[in-house]
Parts: sequence; C-alpha cells; structure tokens
Amino acid sequence: MDDTILLETQSLRKEFGALIAVDNVSIRVRANSLHSIIGPNGAGKTTFFNLLSGNIEPTSGRVIFKGRDITHLPVHRTIHLGIGRSFQITNIFPNLTVFENIRLACQAMGHDNFRFWQDASRFKKYIARTTEVIELVGLTSRAMTLARALPHGDQRKLELGMILAPDPELLLLDEPTAGMASEQVPELMALIQRIRLAGNKTVMLVEHNMNVVMNVSDAITVMHQGQVLAEGAPAEIAANKEVQTAYLGGLYRTVISNQ
Ligand SMILES: Nc1ncnc2c1ncn2[C@@H]1O[C@H](COP(=O)(O)OP(=O)(O)O)[C@@H](O)[C@H]1O
Ligand SMILES: [Mg+2]
Repeated sequence: MDDTILLETQSLRKEFGALIAVDNVSIRVRANSLHSIIGPNGAGKTTFFNLLSGNIEPTSGRVIFKGRDITHLPVHRTIHLGIGRSFQITNIFPNLTVFENIRLACQAMGHDNFRFWQDASRFKKYIARTTEVIELVGLTSRAMTLARALPHGDQRKLELGMILAPDPELLLLDEPTAGMASEQVPELMALIQRIRLAGNKTVMLVEHNMNVVMNVSDAITVMHQGQVLAEGAPAEIAANKEVQTAYLGGLYRTVISNQ
C-alpha cells in the first residue's frame, strides 16, 4: 500500500426522485489498499458502486480514477480503464463450465469477441489466461464442471474469476460473501486478500456485516442514509462513538437475529 490516491469521489450525489440515495460522498481510496464500505441495507452502498463503475450517472459530483475524470463514462469504458465490478447477485452463465465462463470473460476484453478463431495465437493467449485465472481463484479441479453444479461458495469464486479475467487494477466487490455459509466466509476473504497482494490490486468491498471486513480492511467508510457517517482505520471505526450508537448497535442485533 502507498499514499497514491487511485480513486477519489468529490461530493458524489445520486437522487432517485425525492430520495437521496448517495448524498455528497467524498472519499479517497489509496492504491493497493483494501477499502471497505459498510452500512446497513439501504445505506446507498450499491448505488455508490454503480456510480463508480458507470452503471448509472450521478446527479452531481465527480469520480476521479488515476487522476482522470471518469464521472460520465459508461461501464464498458471503465472496464477498459481497469475497473472490475461485481454485482450483489451472481452473474455467471449456469449452463457453461467454469472454464467456458472464464474464457468468455477473457475474450470479452479482447476487442475481437467473435473473431478469435481467425488468430490462433490470440486464441492461445485466452486459453493461457483462462487457465491462470482458474488457478488464481482455486477452481482448477472444477474447471470442467458446469457452473450451476458448483456449490455456492465456488460460484462466488467463479464470479471473482470473471471479474479478474481482464486483470483490473481496481476491484469493486459488492457483498462477495452474500448467501455464503458463515464458515466459508473467511476462506473467500483470504482469497480476496491473496489476489490483492499478489497482483498489487486495489479492492473496494461493500459489506453490511462489519465483522467480515474488520480484520482485512486498511480503511473503512461507514455509510448511513446515503451519507458518510465515519471513515478511518478499522480500530478507529470500532472505537467511534457515533458509529457505535447510530449503526453498530443495530447491526449487531441484525447479525445475532440472523443466526
Ligand atoms: N434504481 C433505483 N430507483 C429508485 N430507488 C433506488 C434505486 N436503486 C436504489 N434505490 C434506493 O436507494 C437507496 C439505497 O439503495 P442501495 O444503494 O441499494 O443500498 P445498499 O446497497 O446500501 O443496501 C434505497 O432506499 C433504495 O431503495
Ligand atoms: Mg447493496
């Protein structure tokens, strides 16, 4: 991790009619860090990610990535600049194998989606990258398994592989552990850490359960009703009185009631 700012938002705001889903959010994400955005359901986390990736346009404010204003770039442009985005719902092709899913994700970045057979060396390049990515996410022994036949935890790994295929510099992971059994969560978090450290990547992670991100985050931004409630290192967030009263108390109740 270094002090370079990879991504910055300036007073980013998104209104849906009368609702302010993201309310003047200004954050700075350091290169090679793991920066978590936590907050209860409805806090505006997914909307914030949608603004960063170009899935939706802000009402006002700016998004700066590597010094460049990307506020109004659509998602296919932000992907090419090195921003990889996951969604809260799994985004895989259930009737294709692990290998085919990853290969499609590799090819999608090649500008030649339907012409790959014209160029054998390019085809080989995709196969090599596909094999590499499958190994990175620990699914080598499952390469020929249909995605729909994978256990849920492996489906999340496959989805991670599809985001990694084009080798993005910044990964936006929206609740990557959603729906996983709690005993599988540490393994996926460890995998995300390995991928980040091995590839010098920056990871932004959305979570509603703060316990999941406390140990792995370099920085945490707490969102509440569209606004930034607090920001800092995990220890600062845990000690923040405002966070404890306004958010954590309620969250712990949620966690306990889910068990
Ligand atoms: N496309 C949309 N149209 C209208 N309201 C939306 C839309 N997307 C999200 N919202 C609302 O914005 C608020 C924030 O939602 P969201 O960003 O999904 O929160 P989170 O991911 O933190 O749970 C919620 O009140 C939600 O209902
Ligand atoms: Mg969400």
